Amino acid sequence: MDETLIATINKLQDALAPLGGGSQSPVDLPQITVVGSQSSGKSSVLENIVGRDFLPRGTGIVTRRPLVLQLINKRPMKGSPSQSTKNELLDLDGPSSKKGQSEDNLNEWGEFLHLPGKKFFNFDEIRQEIVTETDKTTGKNAGISSIPINLRIYSPHVLTLTLVDLPGLTKVPVGDQPIDIEKQIKDMILKYISKPNAIILSVNAANTDLANSDGLKLAREVDPEGTRTIGVLTKVDLMDQGTDVIDILAGRVIPLRYGYIPVINRGQKDIEAKKTIRAALEDERKFFENHPSYSSKAHYCGTPYLAKKLNSILLHHIRQTLPEIKNKIEVTLKKYQSELLSLGPETMDSPNSIVLSMITDFSKEYTGILDGEAKELSSQELSGGARIS
Ligand code: GDP
Ligand code: NA
Ligand code: MG
Repeated sequence: MDETLIATINKLQDALAPLGGGSQSPVDLPQITVVGSQSSGKSSVLENIVGRDFLPRGTGIVTRRPLVLQLINKRPMKGSPSQSTKNELLDLDGPSSKKGQSEDNLNEWGEFLHLPGKKFFNFDEIRQEIVTETDKTTGKNAGISSIPINLRIYSPHVLTLTLVDLPGLTKVPVGDQPIDIEKQIKDMILKYISKPNAIILSVNAANTDLANSDGLKLAREVDPEGTRTIGVLTKVDLMDQGTDVIDILAGRVIPLRYGYIPVINRGQKDIEAKKTIRAALEDERKFFENHPSYSSKAHYCGTPYLAKKLNSILLHHIRQTLPEIKNKIEVTLKKYQSELLSLGPETMDSPNSIVLSMITDFSKEYTGILDGEAKELSSQELSGGARIS
């Protein structure tokens, strides 16, 4: 039921996208928004949560449009797919995907909202599509745009989550960026995190001073009590010897209700050496287990723990906001129903009528959820972490 809940919110998110999403959306949907300085490791954190390489990432301003990333946990088909199914799937994606595809890869794919029906089994092609689509609205020379790219990833290895990757905070314009780039990015981030239903994932490099974190400052502007902000500390591996993040974890620096989670992503060298995420997650685990400062709390460190925590925070938040979402949906439903009635039958395929049917479905599912027991997440559902297997 928990998975249904997030899946339903995802559907609604897509349904509302034609209405302009963002501030024009009649319903404020719970989602996790990633905020931090440029190159603090935001995209790397997201990739580690997904467990696949698919994001443009590196030094400088790489993320230049919001990416709304819906992760959908999809159980693999029972048994291995039949030969014919396999070939069919491979043919969909053209010859390039045929080499090096394992069966497992066929259970994981991406789909963009702007390319409906096209399944990407090759995650390099997902990255290429993000780059191409980014350049379409921003130009090639470091410009930014607030129009989101919507990407869904289906996989048996992810926890169902909705995450938004945003351009990082920066001060000095480069390339075609306007002089007020700092303000433009700030405004874009604020648009996403000021909604009361936004969960803020504040990413900070552990080798920089938390007190100077622009991302955290922005988060505190809209969430002064820190009740919907969760901190991530990246680059723990790059800290000076003899220093650690224990004071931050203990809430002695800038306390957040959900606390901070230290992680280690791949460095630029690792990426150039084509280190796999699997190897990186393994090294991350070893680092925390063997480090004198973290070994006693290694369970609360690293990417798998972060993914579990995000999933449970998102569910908790959705449950809390359901009554309000339900109200808004009912109002929206009535509005569209009467609009459609006044327009007559020839408008039945209009975007509004699609929105209407999505919202109707949502209301039905919502009622089902209310009728069922509001059960807490069982630890079993959460076992296994970011990559379930
Ligand atoms: P973003 O701009 O915040 O999205 O940051 P990216 O994810 O693109 O990362 C910026 C750079 O920092 C890349 O070269 C990453 O390889 C590197 N990086 C990110 N996280 C870590 C980390 O935990 N440890 C190390 N050593 N490097 C990292
Ligand atoms: Na970057
Ligand atoms: Mg990025």
